[in-house]
Amino acid sequence: MAMTKKLSIIRVWESVGITQHWGGPWATRRLAEFCKIGYGTKVLDVGCGTGYAACVLAKKYGAEVTALDVSKDLLSEARKRAKRFNVQDRVSFVQANAHHLPFRSGSFDVVISESVLAFCDAKKVGKEIRRVLKSGGLFGSNEATFLKKVSKEYEEVFRHGLGGKFFAHTEREWKSIYKSVGFEVLHSEAHRETPMDDFMSHMVIDGPWAFMKRVGVVFDPKLRWILNPTMIRRIFDLMNYAGYGLYICKK
Ligand SMILES: C[S@@+](CC[C@H](N)C(=O)[O-])C[C@H]1O[C@@H](n2cnc3c(N)ncnc32)[C@H](O)[C@@H]1O
Repeated sequence: MAMTKKLSIIRVWESVGITQHWGGPWATRRLAEFCKIGYGTKVLDVGCGTGYAACVLAKKYGAEVTALDVSKDLLSEARKRAKRFNVQDRVSFVQANAHHLPFRSGSFDVVISESVLAFCDAKKVGKEIRRVLKSGGLFGSNEATFLKKVSKEYEEVFRHGLGGKFFAHTEREWKSIYKSVGFEVLHSEAHRETPMDDFMSHMVIDGPWAFMKRVGVVFDPKLRWILNPTMIRRIFDLMNYAGYGLYICKK
């Protein structure tokens, strides 16, 4: 819980009950296919948020998924989603910190993580992910990726704007992080994400009604900091520089 308190952006997600990654459902499917997820594949979803990827991997691909997140409130949303998807028997939930995964070494065939390592110590989490993978296992990562190099000054603006803990990297930097913890990077690709793409994937994942209810956040005075004009401008600026990268790494 103490960890959650420190991560202010996570408090925002908890309050609105919504999390997401750039690339939306398309990116999740692409990772699943690159990682050859199929019936009975043992998958760990690190930083599952409200559980969209975990539920899709169980329902569409028949995977046995363990979905982990630091946030109790987001896990409770994820459990509700598992019921709606009717996959409670194939998805189990664990509240834990990604920096210390509570699993034995070699427990999983595949680890998926979407839009999580940018909010963490990526090397530390990367090492943990590698440890819990079986030998030859695959890590499918989707992370915020700078499409062009930004100045240190601008990077700082994003970092503070997004709750003080957000480390996007270029595609080359992400690959070197993954290599530095012992992975072989089999494939990578970077894509632009427009605000419209982002909005549409929220709609697809949560539907218009859930999305509109969550927009009620504008009326919560505790969350005003994220919706002030400077913050909104920064988020739009970020989208000029950043997109998402998909990385397929082998242990
Ligand atoms: C941008 S959301 C992405 C959620 C989900 N992967 C998705 O694509 O919808 C980031 C998620 O990472 C989780 N998270 C951030 N830091 C974490 C940590 N140290 N340990 C576990 N989960 C963490 C947050 O609680 C949040 O659910």
